[in-house]
Amino acid sequence: MSNVTSSGEPLAFPAGFTWGAATAAYQIEGAVNADGRGPSVWDTFSRTPGKVRGGDTGDIACDSYHRYPEDADLLRSLGLSGYRFSISWPRIFPDGAGQLNQAGLDYYKSLLDTLGERGISAAATLFHWDLPQALQDRGGWASRDTAYRFADYAGVVAEALGDRIIRWITLNEPLVVAHNGHRIGVHAPGLTDDAVAAAVTHHLLLGHGLGAAAVRAAAPGAEVGITLNLTPVRVAADGSALNGSAQALERARLVADATHNGIFLEPVLFGSYPEHAPAAIVPPAELIKDGDLETISAPIDFLGVNYYQPEHLRAGDPDNLLRNEERPMAGIDGHVVNYSPEGMERTPMGWLIDPDGLYELLMRLSADAPGLPLYITENGCAAEDYVDPNGEVNDLERIKFLHLHLAAVARAASDGARLAGYYVWSLLDNFEWSYGYQKRFGIVYVDFATQRRIPKASSAFFARVASDNAVPP
Ligand code: NOJ
Repeated sequence: MSNVTSSGEPLAFPAGFTWGAATAAYQIEGAVNADGRGPSVWDTFSRTPGKVRGGDTGDIACDSYHRYPEDADLLRSLGLSGYRFSISWPRIFPDGAGQLNQAGLDYYKSLLDTLGERGISAAATLFHWDLPQALQDRGGWASRDTAYRFADYAGVVAEALGDRIIRWITLNEPLVVAHNGHRIGVHAPGLTDDAVAAAVTHHLLLGHGLGAAAVRAAAPGAEVGITLNLTPVRVAADGSALNGSAQALERARLVADATHNGIFLEPVLFGSYPEHAPAAIVPPAELIKDGDLETISAPIDFLGVNYYQPEHLRAGDPDNLLRNEERPMAGIDGHVVNYSPEGMERTPMGWLIDPDGLYELLMRLSADAPGLPLYITENGCAAEDYVDPNGEVNDLERIKFLHLHLAAVARAASDGARLAGYYVWSLLDNFEWSYGYQKRFGIVYVDFATQRRIPKASSAFFARVASDNAVPP
């Protein structure tokens, strides 16, 4: 296998690598009142004035609930072998628990049959943020009961769909649910309470462990894992010179790593909360019952990695931020701040473009969890996409972004990381949470007025990489 950059040869991926695209139910399905679906926390949140840009909601989204055959055709026409989508809990249990809605299960059966007919393997996420509102009304993830209800739901879905799904992802980015949803309130359910966020952290993890066990019991042989948003933490090279604070910076690096990565990764991989996590984010001991950490750390078959950008730290004064891109860092007393380096390219989200960060992350995960298969379950970028007078969307920035990041993945594979697949975020432009429809992440453009899908130039690039199983030099 040729896998070199310097000679100008393509960088090859391992044999059997899964090439896929990812979506999530609330972001693409629409049809929020169809066939007995109950409301989710995102219906409530998006309808609350001021929470989502432009007042956008997922009411219609990409209408994929009705247009899934067309979307499956798109996947096939791109030659992709995998589709990562999520199952909407409130379609299956409109009240979160109790009465099953058979029509919800039937919808996913049809979707899965449609994928199967096109030779596309399914990776299903069981929780991509759309908690049934009825469960939120009973405390949501702050309540331990939600973890048990999640396991019930996971078992029912695995029983019904286990023969059609090869890869199960319990939770998507639980850190974002805990932090954005319960600590800073920019996502549903919009709470701003550190103690609640810490409880949510533990109950999400418990839900993962119980849900994984329920899937395994109902669908023996299933591959089960979790998707975490992970990031390398960088310390400014000149930082130690400022304030002579090399030790403070190193301590900050450990705290930041625990905050961004370890808080979910370590319980899952090692059965313990990270030593360096700030007290405010660690679940209190009274919530952690005997056996919880064993349940949470039961072996997984793969780790799903969502990567967008690294975190940066430097010496600074949290009480006197020098530049407006500096932010105080939780859990660090003095002399260290988060910042966003100048002079680096960014996407329209303001996120740094840093493919080396993905390489570093993958190598680090391979060291932390030797032999555990890694899937990139999300990577991609927003871009200022528009349909040109020829009816084309020439998203050259996205092609460049994907090219650099795919090369980083191939490099990590060639350096020993056990990489099994890559799902681009996203198949379609969709509802980008609090940003609404303004941020487009798709490799396929969606004209939301007509629901017309227009494959962007990046989709042809990605299709070519998938068919070659190699990224061009
Ligand atoms: C992570 C989330 O899982 C997904 O829902 C979101 O759209 C992308 N990142 C882009 O922000």
